[in-house]
Amino acid sequence: MKALVLAGGSGTRLRPITFTRAKQLVPVANKPILFYGLEAIAAAGIREVGVVVGDTAPEVMAAVGDGAAWGIEVTYIPQDKPRGLAHAVVIAEEYMGGEPFVMYLGDNLIKDGITGLVREFDVSEASDAHILLAHVPNPTAFGVAEVDDGKVVRLVEKPAEPKSDLALVGVYLFRPAIFEAVNSIEPSARGELEITDAIQWLVDHGRVVTPHVIEGWWKDTGKLDDLLEANRILLEDITTEIEGEIEDGVRIEGRVRIGRGSVIEGSSRLRGPICIGEDVRVVDSYIGPFTSLADGVQVLGSEIEHSIMLQHSRLESVRGRVTDSLFGVGAVARTSASTPSANSFMVGDNSEVEIAR
Ligand code: DAU
Repeated sequence: MKALVLAGGSGTRLRPITFTRAKQLVPVANKPILFYGLEAIAAAGIREVGVVVGDTAPEVMAAVGDGAAWGIEVTYIPQDKPRGLAHAVVIAEEYMGGEPFVMYLGDNLIKDGITGLVREFDVSEASDAHILLAHVPNPTAFGVAEVDDGKVVRLVEKPAEPKSDLALVGVYLFRPAIFEAVNSIEPSARGELEITDAIQWLVDHGRVVTPHVIEGWWKDTGKLDDLLEANRILLEDITTEIEGEIEDGVRIEGRVRIGRGSVIEGSSRLRGPICIGEDVRVVDSYIGPFTSLADGVQVLGSEIEHSIMLQHSRLESVRGRVTDSLFGVGAVARTSASTPSANSFMVGDNSEVEIAR
């Protein structure tokens, strides 16, 4: 069994955060989303992993390397353009060499991992594909499955009028029949080779497609709210681990993780669960629950909770508590002392700023 991890695409919904980074490398609980997937694949005993990369290939390759960090062997499969999930399968045919494989979308997080699913697929030799489904409140945002009497009847990509609330989760298990399917379908109206159409092709040609409804927590991290929720759920499981320095007078409640070289100073108060990376400075500030501060972040005289701050971003004397926010690499928010009192901004394309009344 091999794995195919999709880490290409352009990540438009998370702009401007993804103008400079692959969306799969945005960290939640201070670890790139993609790494959780690689961990799950390694934990399932899979060693050979093909990683599909696009425009952001250099960043993905720099982060993942040869896979040795997870005990896996990574082969990069370049995709010239995001031509669709089924196109990623087309270009991986030679790499798979006739073996069954798990396809894992690099921006998906599945809390319970994939070990059980991989084992089950391994022994169900008659099945050409296993698909994972989850009940969701907003099926129009996903591929949607109609299941009748335990059988997949129809799959539609992001339907305007969904026939069920069962979304396709971004993990699929395939046997080589999928290659015939992806080579037989045509691009959809949005110009992509859809994996939903390829799986529908299998169904229509009498192949065995087995649905699995998963109950555990799963997230497609394409949008800000989803990222914040993923961050919250992962932080719920952290344990206290303090490698940084905590000055006298700092108050700590709940579970906090603080990396090497970080210093928490003055009258600061930390209320977990929170995750603080390396070389972070927190001075006279409040860091509230479900916040992740990446390496080199500075929070000075400010309050923040339920947020993610990426590397080297900074909050300085910001009035009012910051909440439900994501700061990109090197982003700065501060209160200015100059008069006349006015708000001034330099925000990237497609950014959003909400100012408290
Ligand atoms: O997350 C589950 C959903 O994922 C499913 O319900 C949908 O049926 C499925 O089409 C997919 O929808 P998305 O719109 O979320 O797919 P997205 O374009 O975000 O691509 C998913 C991942 O695959 C992402 O990490 C980028 C990568 N990708 C995408 C395309 C289109 C590639 O590597 N190459 C591609 O050509």
